[in-house]
Amino acid sequence: MQLPTIPPFKTKVVEPVYFRTREERKKKIREQHFNLFNIHSDWVIVDLMTDSGTGAMSEQQWSEIMLGDESYAGSESYFKLIRAVKDIMGFEYVAPTHQGRAAENILFSATVREGDVVPGNAHFDTTKGHIEFRKARAMDCTIKEAYDTGLYHPFKGNIDLEKLESVIKEYGKDRIPFINITVTCNTVGGQPVSLQNIRETSALAKKYGIPVYMDIARYAENAYFIKNREAAYKDWSIRDIIREMFKDADVVWMSSKKDGLVNIGGFIALNDPDLYERLGQFTIVYEGFLTYGGMSGRAMGALAVGLYEGVDFHYLQDRVHQVQYLGQKLKDYGIPIQEPVGGHALYIDAKKMLPHIPQTQYPAQLLAVEAYIEGGVRGVEIGTLLADRDPETGKDRLAEMELLRLALPRRVYSRSHMDYVAATMARVAARKEELKTGFRITKQAQILRHFTVELERI
Ligand code: F0G
Repeated sequence: MQLPTIPPFKTKVVEPVYFRTREERKKKIREQHFNLFNIHSDWVIVDLMTDSGTGAMSEQQWSEIMLGDESYAGSESYFKLIRAVKDIMGFEYVAPTHQGRAAENILFSATVREGDVVPGNAHFDTTKGHIEFRKARAMDCTIKEAYDTGLYHPFKGNIDLEKLESVIKEYGKDRIPFINITVTCNTVGGQPVSLQNIRETSALAKKYGIPVYMDIARYAENAYFIKNREAAYKDWSIRDIIREMFKDADVVWMSSKKDGLVNIGGFIALNDPDLYERLGQFTIVYEGFLTYGGMSGRAMGALAVGLYEGVDFHYLQDRVHQVQYLGQKLKDYGIPIQEPVGGHALYIDAKKMLPHIPQTQYPAQLLAVEAYIEGGVRGVEIGTLLADRDPETGKDRLAEMELLRLALPRRVYSRSHMDYVAATMARVAARKEELKTGFRITKQAQILRHFTVELERI
């Protein structure tokens, strides 16, 4: 008999969960204009809104909190971070930032100009926001298989090379500051990119003299999938796969709130001293001095340790198995999800689950609200609300997919929490015929509207 895989850690500190009734939640979400970002966390039972910054730190990381060197310049904690990034990823220069989007702000301030085009696999919303904010355009070149949730493809995060080349030919190298590869690709379901695709994309970029930048928030989960799904690498270590993934990358940037296993932080890493110097101008203006860039010494120390823990094979195996366990449960209940299951979250296909709700009524948001009412499970809409409006026409951009994302915080929830989540979704599914209409927007912000949008039931 094969022994099951178990988490390579045990619990030392616990946090309470508070229980409210279904009726109390129903009233609360109405008062909060059906926006789950407005809900106080005490009112959530299982919080799957994001895997970003919500993980549990280890005892070694908490020790680093005490060891943090809070010197304004030249902090030892900064050098710990530099050593870890160099050792794991192979980059010389590291610019810390307070989180991923701050890294985008600095990096794009130095590289993206008005009228530019940035092709890549489905850019994350802050990435796209930072590109569009500079009056440039993000061009999605993800393979079309990514947008068919029922279809199996081992690497749905891959870039369609033909599409990429046609974008390069149309706009020309001078308008393309870099090609953006996001690993794993959050927007299409935490789906990995294969090493072969990274290599081929880089070769194409080189042919046209365009740099390759990688958004590596979930790079370790991506490496785990390469080991498991790309035959040539099955005997490689996670660390060797990571080195291979980054071999041709000119720049990487990371929201370390994900695979860095910390609650806050980010960085840009690269080998080009000239670009590093240019970034430094923006770091100082926007974030802080070069050796802390918006992070405290203790946070950099905890990140240096978290980077090592995040690339541990046993940790990654347990992590991905937990996501797959919840995915299988949902499938057993007949709930349509993006398949195969990705690295950090389940994505429920609202177009399939609620085919009678038009996209203009935000079906994935309806599912999110119903999951909250039913069991206090908080997920997040990845659909037309998030896709926002076309910057030129001001009209809603109907999203390719209407998804409810249930993202799993790292090292936080147990298998019984997963059972609870699956049962909650099964109860929502059981009464889906009663959900006749969705929402209309009553108030929205200029950009990144989903955070503060107000809705009413139609
Ligand atoms: N890139 C990717 C792929 C992301 O998933 C995120 C954040 C960012 C960049 C921005 O990083 O939040 O540290 O500023 N994703 C979070 C999520 C918010 O819930 O998926 P940040």
